[in-house]
Formats: sequence, C-alpha cells, structure tokens
Amino acid sequence: MEWGMENRLARIINPKTKRCVMLAVDHGYFQGPTSGLQDLGKAVNPLLPYADALMITRGALRNWIPPITDKPIVLRVSGGQSILKELSNEVITTSIQDAVRINASAITCSVYVGGEYEKETIANLARIVNEGADYGIPVLAVTAVGKAMVRDARYLGLASRICVEIGAHIVKTYFCEPDFDKVVTACGNAPVIIAGGKKIEEKAALEMAKKSIEAGAVGVDMGRNVFQSDNPVGMIRAVRAIVHENASVNEAFKIYKKNESSVLLQK
Ligand code: 5RP
Repeated sequence: MEWGMENRLARIINPKTKRCVMLAVDHGYFQGPTSGLQDLGKAVNPLLPYADALMITRGALRNWIPPITDKPIVLRVSGGQSILKELSNEVITTSIQDAVRINASAITCSVYVGGEYEKETIANLARIVNEGADYGIPVLAVTAVGKAMVRDARYLGLASRICVEIGAHIVKTYFCEPDFDKVVTACGNAPVIIAGGKKIEEKAALEMAKKSIEAGAVGVDMGRNVFQSDNPVGMIRAVRAIVHENASVNEAFKIYKKNESSVLLQK
C-alpha cells in the first residue's frame, strides 16, 4: 500500500491494538438537527479526547470543530437527500480537493444495496475510491440500510462484500445475530466497524460492541448510542474499554455508571 494511504489508515485504526473507536456525528446531512446534536460543538468537543477518529461532514466540521483538533477526520462526502425522500438518492457532495484542504484522513459515502438508487450509490463509492487513490486517501464505505432491508448476515454480507470488491478500505455495517462473523469474513482483509444504530439501553449497546469485537470487527463507529446517552462521556469511555482493552460488558458498564455518578455529584 502507498505510504500516505497507510499512514492515514494508521491514524484511524490504532496500529498497536488494531482497533478503532470512531465517533459518528454526520447525521445532520440527511436528518437535520438530530436529537443530541443541535449544538454539535457542545455535544462533540467533550467526547473528542476519547475518540480515535471523527466521522463528520465538512459543514459541521467548519462550523463546530476547532481546526486545532488533532483527531483524524473521516469526511462524509455524500448527501443530496433527506429523511423526507428516498434515502438512497445520494450524490457526491464534496470534491476530493476539499477533502485534501480539510486534511481528511479518510472519506466516506453510503452504499444502498437493494435501494432504489443502488447502482448510483455503488458508482459513488467507486468514484471516491478512484479519487482517493490519486491523493492517498482511504475510503470508508457505509452499508446503509433502506427501510425495507432485513438486517441479517446474508444481506449485510452481500452489501459489505460489494463495498470491498469496489475498493473500500474500511467497511461500516450493522451488527446482526446470528452469524455476524460471516459478515466479517465476507470482507476479507478489509477492517469492519459497526454502526450503533438507534439509541438503545446503554448495557445493550455495550453488549453489541462486545459481540462485534468477538466476531472479528475492529471497532465501532457509534453515534446516537453515545451522544444521546444520559452520560455521553461515560458511554464513550465504556465503549473504549471494550474496544481497546477487551473489557467485559460488566466492567465497561461500571465505567459508564462510575462516570454517571460523578456527573450527578457535580450537579
Ligand atoms: C448513516 C451513517 C450515520 O451517520 C451513522 O451510522 C450513524 O451512527 P449511529 O447509527 O451509531 O448513530 O453513517 O448511514
């Protein structure tokens, strides 16, 4: 692999643990002011010390994140639709030159396998893989699930493998049971990270992270289950303990609770 590409990937996936805690805050590109991210800077800046990388759009970055940050940026470069319309109708919104100006460590777009605009979203991925290759910028492919998609290993394996075949360097997908290990295997050497999905109980989210790692994922790209938690710092620290320190779910939950009580005591 070319030096710049490898260097950028090493900024995202810790070369020592070979794991990654990415914080996803790109929701606004189709959801608007998502609950928990209305004031994105206030929500996200306290979490940055505990994230290995930040997944975000250029607009959110320029509005709410100070440029002195040392966190690697995984730049969302697709959009063009909203929750009011067909979700798969995405285009590439951000030029590779702007990604370079932003000093992105990776670029990312969604692929809607089975969606109305499946072909277009696969073409979007192919395009940013080609453009990224010109500048040594790796690509994270997001296997987005349309409303009608069943999130099972067969579907997620199909979607994830297509992303790998098109050239994605990292695949973001959803955890499923049973057989999540088959989704990971379908990706060959490409590292797999999981999205958190809709907000669930903290312990259940930690269990999902743990099972994903045990099945071979290298980490998480979690959003709502962190920033919509009643204790976002405690939650990201707990997720971090699972991903980087192989903590058990109970150990991680204690980290979340301990931070929660210190938050309560400060009130
Ligand atoms: C949508 C995305 C999201 O912005 C990201 O997956 C959301 O993370 P989470 O589900 O953990 O809130 O990439 O396709």
